[in-house]
Amino acid sequence: MHHLSHLPSNFVWGAATAAYQIEGAVDADGRSPSIWDTFGRVPGAIANGDTGDVACDHYHRWPEDLGLLRELGVDAYRFSVAWPRVIPTGTGAVNTKGLAFYDRLVDELLAAGIRPFVTVYHWDLPQVLQDKGGWPVRDTAEALAEYAGVVAGALGDRVTDWCTVNEPLCVAWIGHLEGTMAPGIRDLRLAVDASHHVLLGHGLATQAIRANASAEPSVGIVLNPSPVDPATDSEADVAAATRSDGHTNRWWLDPLHGRGYPRDMIETYGYEPPVRDGDLETIATPTDFLGVNYYFRAVVADDPTAPAPFTRQVEVPGARHTAMGWEVSPGGLERILTRVASEYQPARIYVTEQGSAWPDVVAADGSIEDKERIDYLEQHLEAIDAAAAAGVPLAGYFVWSLLDNLEWAYGYDKRFGLVHVDYATQERTMKASGRRYAEILRDFRR
Ligand code: IFM
Repeated sequence: MHHLSHLPSNFVWGAATAAYQIEGAVDADGRSPSIWDTFGRVPGAIANGDTGDVACDHYHRWPEDLGLLRELGVDAYRFSVAWPRVIPTGTGAVNTKGLAFYDRLVDELLAAGIRPFVTVYHWDLPQVLQDKGGWPVRDTAEALAEYAGVVAGALGDRVTDWCTVNEPLCVAWIGHLEGTMAPGIRDLRLAVDASHHVLLGHGLATQAIRANASAEPSVGIVLNPSPVDPATDSEADVAAATRSDGHTNRWWLDPLHGRGYPRDMIETYGYEPPVRDGDLETIATPTDFLGVNYYFRAVVADDPTAPAPFTRQVEVPGARHTAMGWEVSPGGLERILTRVASEYQPARIYVTEQGSAWPDVVAADGSIEDKERIDYLEQHLEAIDAAAAAGVPLAGYFVWSLLDNLEWAYGYDKRFGLVHVDYATQERTMKASGRRYAEILRDFRR
């Protein structure tokens, strides 16, 4: 691998997780069910009937997981707070026991010299709020802000780095249009309503964090943009790629940067988001950074029979794919970073997630020599270095994920961790990729 010479010397190296994917302990200390607990009980919704009931049992084993972060030598750890632990009724009474878990985690991270990056909302909406309509309902945006204010009030004397919402695309499009993530709805209008309320919630949460954190906060949203290419140069496929780009990228980036919703997409959906006076200003509340999660490039063809935006993904012959079936495309990371930087000019960009699932093999001696993950990691680090060389204001990079964990509807089979988890025993084993990441970080600091 080339030396990563274009990244700034204060570049933040991290690893990321999310509450529902690792914590387990779904009934502990007053936590209420989230939409993922409900979704996991729908037959067939999650592969193998897996649920987050136990996951990596991080709620109890976090000291060991903190030890793994130290072993990796990361500067920062990005994790999410579980709303149903903190405000089990969605709005109103705060559950101090739920907050205490994160309070202690933050203290111990800081004591270990690891900077906490807190994601306020990573998909685990309290089921009680879903029962009142969930994201398609405007009140949920206000509820998010209330919850964000509570978390910032409790942790914001020590936490300075805040991600409001993780991947609103997944919340709205996968959760409410495709229906393969919680809450499992398939309805274009509800999905568009959800998209607007998640963005509005982000803007309101940004303001609430700033109003309640006592240490100067750096606040941003985390998107998952992908470059989109047409499968062929036919007019129909080129138009499909424009629609897919609108759905995946511009629908989120435009309103966040003060441009409102893209007109061509409102026409594609045949439906206007429920914008009220002042909403677009709230959504475009200036942020301190943009979080970019990157996994693949999309290649699409026109498909009038598919749900909006009427496209289908096409597999590129000869391309390499991860266990998720995602094309390995480090060039796509460089492309999306340079595009976002030049078109939208965020103050800073953190790559808030980046990683890959592979069919890891545990050798007889217990080791996991995950060469594919190492190659993938190195190639993508070279891509961010190239983006930095091209002037992208990159401030940090977080591997997804610290640990193997619940890959949502795909269950536990898809392993993204730098650390292997044996779910029968909860034993953690550093993979070769984890050792390699630690080595890359040491070399960078030399
Ligand atoms: O596991 C997810 C994470 O929760 C959000 N971003 C993508 C990851 C891999 O699919």
